Amino acid sequence: MSLADLTQASLSRVASAATAEELEAIRVEVLGRKGTLANLSKDFGKLSPEERAAFGKDLNAAKQSLESAFDARKAGFDSAALTARLDAEWLDLTIPPAGQRPGSLHPLTQIQREIEQLFTSLGFAVLDGPEVESEYNNFDALNIPAEHPARDMQDTFWLDGGFCLRTHTSPVQVRGMKLLKPPFRMIAPGRVFRNEEVDASHEHTFYQLEGMMVDRNVSVANLIYFMKTLLSGIFGREVTVRLRPGYFPFVEPGFELDIQCLLCDGAGCPVCKQSGWVELLPCGLVHPNVLRLGGIDPEEWNGFAFGLGMTRLVMMRYGIEDIRQLQGGDLRFLKQF
Ligand code: DAH
Repeated sequence: MSLADLTQASLSRVASAATAEELEAIRVEVLGRKGTLANLSKDFGKLSPEERAAFGKDLNAAKQSLESAFDARKAGFDSAALTARLDAEWLDLTIPPAGQRPGSLHPLTQIQREIEQLFTSLGFAVLDGPEVESEYNNFDALNIPAEHPARDMQDTFWLDGGFCLRTHTSPVQVRGMKLLKPPFRMIAPGRVFRNEEVDASHEHTFYQLEGMMVDRNVSVANLIYFMKTLLSGIFGREVTVRLRPGYFPFVEPGFELDIQCLLCDGAGCPVCKQSGWVELLPCGLVHPNVLRLGGIDPEEWNGFAFGLGMTRLVMMRYGIEDIRQLQGGDLRFLKQF
C-alpha cells in the first residue's frame, strides 16, 4: 500500500473509531514502533538519496497529520468520558448525609424560645426553678396555706421531707421576688407535674410559662397590654381578648383571659364549643400577701402575674388533638415540626 493510501485509510479509521480503546488500538497498529508506518520506512535504505529525502518528507507529513488526528479524537473521547462521569457522579451538597438526619426542635421548645425572645425584648428576665420544690414555695408562699381548699385544685405528687413535684411554675414567682429587687419583670418556663388520670387532654407532666411584673401602679390595663402583645406574637396576628373573673389565691383580682376563637373569628365552631371564645391564660394582680411573703412592701409595689399553659398553646397552634403525643417519643410525630 502506498504511503498516501495508508494515510487516507488510517485517517478514516481514526475518524470512525467508536471508543477510546479502539482508537488506541489503531494508534498502536499504525504509529507504533512495529506499526504499519514504521514498516514502510524499513526499505528506506534501498532508496537513492533524492528519493530518500522526498520520501522522508512525505513520511513525516503523514506521521504528523495522523498524530494530530489521533490527538484530536482522543481529546474528544476524554472530554466525553469526563462529561459522562460528572453526570453520573455529581455531588449534591444540599442532600443531608444518609444515616443521621439533622434534628429539629420539639414544638414545645420552639414555642418556649419564641416567647422568651418576645419577653426579653420587653425587658423580662428568664428565670429557672427546680422541679422538686418545697411545699412552702409551691403553696404557702403563694397564699395557699395547708388546709386551704385551693390545694385540692392541684393533685400533687408529694415527696418526703416537705417537698413535692411542683404543680405549677408559680413558685418561681417566690424565688424571683427574692432574687430580683423591684421593679422587675420575669418569666419562668418549665415542666410541672400533677397526679392526674392520663387521657387525651390530661398528662401528669406538662409545661407552663409563668410571668410576673412588679412595679409601681401596675394596672389591669398593663396586664391586658402585655397579654395581648404575647398572644399576638405567638399567633402572628392581632387577637381579641376578654377577661372573666377567675379564682387563684395568689392574685386579687384574678382572671381567666379568653381569646376570641382564631378558627371562626368568634362566630362559633367545634373548637370553641360554639361560644366564640377559648380560655387560654389565667392571670391577675399579685395578691398583697404574696408580695409581703416575698419581702416586698405591698404599700409601695404591686404587679401582675400570669400562668400560660404552654402545652395547651402548642396543641392549639398545631391542632394536636392528643396531649400524649407531645411526650410520647414517637419520631414520626416529632419529625413533622
Ligand atoms: N399557677 C396556676 C395554675 O397552674 C396558673 C396561674 C393562675 C398562674 C393565675 C398565675 C396566675 O400566675 O396569676 O393553675
